[in-house]
Amino acid sequence: RDDPRIQAVKNLVELVEDFPKPGILFKNLFPVLRNPAVFNGLIQVLSEDIKARCSGVEVIVGLDSRGFLFGPGVALQLGVAFVPVRKKGKLPGETISVEYSLEYGKDSCEIQKNSIRPGQKVVIIDDLLATGGTMKAACDLMEAAKAEVLACVVVIELNELNGKDKLKYPVISYLS
Ligand code: PRP
Ligand code: MG
Repeated sequence: RDDPRIQAVKNLVELVEDFPKPGILFKNLFPVLRNPAVFNGLIQVLSEDIKARCSGVEVIVGLDSRGFLFGPGVALQLGVAFVPVRKKGKLPGETISVEYSLEYGKDSCEIQKNSIRPGQKVVIIDDLLATGGTMKAACDLMEAAKAEVLACVVVIELNELNGKDKLKYPVISYLS
C-alpha cells in the first residue's frame, strides 16, 4: 500500500526479536498510538477503505484485545456500532461462544447474545493476522449470530503463515 499514511505507520512499527518466544519477530503497533497524527491517519485509511469496499456495513466487530485499539475509532468515523468479541468469561449475561485451537491447547471467545441481530452486516477488525485462528473464531461467532461478514480487516498480515486460507471472507490488510 503506497498511501503515505500507511508508510507513516510502517515507519513506527517496532520490531522486537525473540518476543514473546525465541524465534518470533514481534511487530509492535503501540508506537503508532503515541503519535496522534499517524494514528489518526491509520483510522482514516481503514474507514475510507471499509466505506468503499464494504457497503452497507452496520457493525464494526473488534477482537479482544488489540482489535479494541482500532475498531472503535473506525466505528465512530463511519457512524456505526462497535461490538467487542471477548475472551471467555468477560461478558455478562447470555453469550455465544466458540472454541479455537492455540499452538498448545484451546481457548474460546464470545459475544453478548443480543449484541448483533441476525442479518446485520459486519466488518471484523484486529491488529494482526498470523495463523488466522483468532479471526476464524470470530467469523464462526458471526455465523453463529447469523451476521453477514463483509470483510476481515487487519493492519498487519503475516503472509508466510497463510492465515487467509482459513477464512472464507475477503481480507483487507496493509502491512506484512
Ligand atoms: C494476537 C493478535 C491477534 C492474534 C493473531 O493476539 O492481536 O489477535 O494474536 O494470531 P492468530 O492469527 O495466530 O490467531 P493475542 O492472542 O496475542 O492477544 P491480545 O490481542 O490480547 O494481545
Ligand atoms: Mg489479539
